[in-house]
Amino acid sequence: MKYIGALDQGTTSTRFILFDTKGSIVASNQQEHQQIFPEPGWVEHDPWEIWDNASECITKTLRKVEASGSDISCVGITNQRETIVAWNPKTGKVWHNAIVWQDLRGSELINKLKETVDLPWLTEKSGLIFSPYFAASKIAWLLDNVSGLRPEAEKGNVVFGTIDTWLTWNLTGGKALVTDVTNASRYMLMNIKTCQWDDELLALFRVPKCSLPTIVPSSGVVYANTSTNGPFRTEVPVCGILGDQQAALFGQACFTEGLGKSTYGTGCFLLVNTGTKLCTSKLGLLTTVAYQIGDAKPVYALEGSVAVAGSLVQWARDNLKIVSSPQELDKLATSVPDCGGVYIVPAFSGLFAPYWRSEARGVIAGLTGFATRAHLCRAILESTAFQANDIFESMEVDSGIHMTTLKVDGGLTNSEPLMEFQSDLLGIPVIRPLVVETTALGAAYAAGLSVGIWKDMDELASYWKEDRRWKPTMEKSVRDKKIRLWRKAVSRTLNWIS
Ligand code: G3P
Repeated sequence: MKYIGALDQGTTSTRFILFDTKGSIVASNQQEHQQIFPEPGWVEHDPWEIWDNASECITKTLRKVEASGSDISCVGITNQRETIVAWNPKTGKVWHNAIVWQDLRGSELINKLKETVDLPWLTEKSGLIFSPYFAASKIAWLLDNVSGLRPEAEKGNVVFGTIDTWLTWNLTGGKALVTDVTNASRYMLMNIKTCQWDDELLALFRVPKCSLPTIVPSSGVVYANTSTNGPFRTEVPVCGILGDQQAALFGQACFTEGLGKSTYGTGCFLLVNTGTKLCTSKLGLLTTVAYQIGDAKPVYALEGSVAVAGSLVQWARDNLKIVSSPQELDKLATSVPDCGGVYIVPAFSGLFAPYWRSEARGVIAGLTGFATRAHLCRAILESTAFQANDIFESMEVDSGIHMTTLKVDGGLTNSEPLMEFQSDLLGIPVIRPLVVETTALGAAYAAGLSVGIWKDMDELASYWKEDRRWKPTMEKSVRDKKIRLWRKAVSRTLNWIS
């Protein structure tokens, strides 16, 4: 069989990619889905739209290379994490739109629980920071607000699954009801040491254990075969799942302790492999599972999460309408030498790492009559680099690892001014690989390893090739001044909602 399939379900779009056995892209198709904003701070997706798009992407990709399901040896899944779907796996009834990771409706519960919960205990148990970002408060909100849901969940008639669970269940015609351990580590209901659902955390959020999927390794097992009624029209083993940021780490071949990557997608996520040791952060980073192969010990990562990166470019295009495409934004940003004193802090979903302030809201600071649309565009790109720099600094201190280069990937790495500025701020080269679809590649690697397409991780690492490298040129005094002003702008976003 010729191909390995990877289904990459992200925050704004779904993609299916076929890889060959050397990890090169053969064909792909992508579909965007609707972003639903019922109230400020709330974000939803339609789970059926996501599944329809996934099916269509698979069908169209196969058609492009005149392939059928029987040309595919295995399928891996990677997904936006923390986003929760509630459905009845016996009937297929979906109880509510998916509540997306950026959605802040769990804040009220988190703030209430904060009064009584011992925060260091919670972080030690879950590896996470007490925030509405994670799935637990979204599930609790559904249980408390959707009429009739709690009694059904208690009877075992509802599953609360992240998008990997939803897609695997659909692809396999209901045979698999699983979530991989990397996705499970984002619920705030899993014990980060045992990698099992934790009774105390379940009790804290009042979530019935019977409503959660089974936790499985990321690779090394076949969860189930695809259904003959689905888009593959035949049985293909589904045998790799990784949350999208962990998949990018895997696709970038960061298999040894100390290796890390930064992905510039809807948000921006910097992950560093910390090996089989749990590394607890003192500076606002998360401890998360990087991957688990079969019954080997899980490998962990430290993660710095930024909620808004590429979505700010989208916002400039769709809401502000100051550009018609990311390319135009890049062009305008390149037309000025700097941001002209303008700083944008896009705290649309509060601030994530390292600040974790869900009550923060975005600001544009430093405006003068001198500022133009081009300066705004430049400030939009620079905000991502500043946020990545904030988490990079915490990462070095927390992990004790001094990084001399940073591997990067994701759509925004096509932005020349952003990558240049990122390297300038970090003071080290940033490197983009030849295959930029590292998220899908990671899922394909996880699946291919399970069925013996690839021998081991050393073989996978041998396929990693450098494409571009940006080197720092900015003077330290200029850089330090910019970072100081950025932090001043960050301080203006805090305590906005009291
Ligand atoms: O934790 C959220 C993250 O998984 C979303 O990723 O690629 O949609 O920005 P992305």
